[in-house]
Amino acid sequence: MAHIRISSLHKYYDSVHAVRGIDLDIRDGEFTVLVGPSGCGKSTMLRAIAGLENIDSGTIEIDDEVVNNLAPGDRDVAMVFQNYALYPYMNVFDNIAFGLRARKFPAREITARVQAAAETLDIVELLKRLPRQLSGGQRQRVAIGRAIVRDARLFLFDEPLSNLDAQLREGMRVEIKQLHQRLGKTMIYVTHDQIEAMTLADRIVLLKDGSIEQEGAPLDLFERPVSRFVAGFLGSPSMNFLPAKLVENGTYLGLRFADDVTLALPAAASQRLASRVGQDVTFGVRTEHITPARDGELDDGFVDLLVTIDLTQPTGSRTYASFKLAGVAVQAELRAHDVEQPGEQIKLQIDMNRAIVIDPSTELVI
Ligand SMILES: Nc1ncnc2c1ncn2[C@@H]1O[C@H](COP(=O)(O)OP(=O)(O)OP(=O)(O)O)[C@@H](O)[C@H]1O
Ligand SMILES: [Mg+2]
Repeated sequence: MAHIRISSLHKYYDSVHAVRGIDLDIRDGEFTVLVGPSGCGKSTMLRAIAGLENIDSGTIEIDDEVVNNLAPGDRDVAMVFQNYALYPYMNVFDNIAFGLRARKFPAREITARVQAAAETLDIVELLKRLPRQLSGGQRQRVAIGRAIVRDARLFLFDEPLSNLDAQLREGMRVEIKQLHQRLGKTMIYVTHDQIEAMTLADRIVLLKDGSIEQEGAPLDLFERPVSRFVAGFLGSPSMNFLPAKLVENGTYLGLRFADDVTLALPAAASQRLASRVGQDVTFGVRTEHITPARDGELDDGFVDLLVTIDLTQPTGSRTYASFKLAGVAVQAELRAHDVEQPGEQIKLQIDMNRAIVIDPSTELVI
């Protein structure tokens, strides 16, 4: 059991205002991911919840108890640190067992738990080694092992997979997700990797400069971003952004680009934006919503566009292809053999129902 309530949390490091009035409720058993660019305050938040960092104002409650003045050891929280924090003179077994020994667990119980954690993390053959005899990825797994042997009410992970190679990272991501399903514990996980955030989270909290920019279910943020920052942060490749002007376009509105190409907006967006005709806006569209045009009628809200591809990036299953629209590079998502050579022309369709329009003065989606 652990539900967390954070209210008006502020943290300064001298003149650096690292956390700027965060309010956050985390339900019991929820897997919450704090994500955002380097320096946005993710580790500070986690360390404050663990009790390792004094806060300047606000409250942190765990299960309705204000823990502001509770020592870290009394919060019943297990944390995996960004820099592992292993004891250099203890072997892997003793590192993992440390927290259990400190809590006076019986020796047999300790052995069983360490063995089970080592099996989960595939480090059984490393139990006798010292941390300096391990690779970065192995050290990271030991640090995770040390947290999971404890039956804490709350687990905090600070970028636990950042030093692993891509394949191991994918494997460990699955392990952590399974661990969460098996234990049903409340987990708060910090990463700057949006794929990790999307794949692991029940709920994503996207931070920017010490404040929450948007929070919600991963697909909520992905499909309904409130700002250019959220739209650009989530998704790989990143969303395309182009400057445009909102214009009348027959029955509905359109987006006019610098070279006078105009893309028609669907009915709903036209109604919503009617009062803004004539304004400069930013058009945002994801690569997967610019695809090869099909033969025949376009679906409702789709527009087509004949372009010359100037660069292709095959990934195997799909090919990202760049073209210029009003001088700005735009990426489309094609199938593997749609374009064989740069310089080829192709007719694309854009799903304008999935595109966003941003007010450049506020950077908010309108
Ligand atoms: N001990 C400290 N003393 C002074 N400033 C600090 C200290 N720790 C963090 N900061 C500053 O507070 C801000 C938030 O830092 P924090 O470590 O929480 O960021 P982060 O989101 O975890 O970044 P990263 O992804 O790089 O780990 C940054 O501007 C950082 O420089
Ligand atoms: Mg950090």
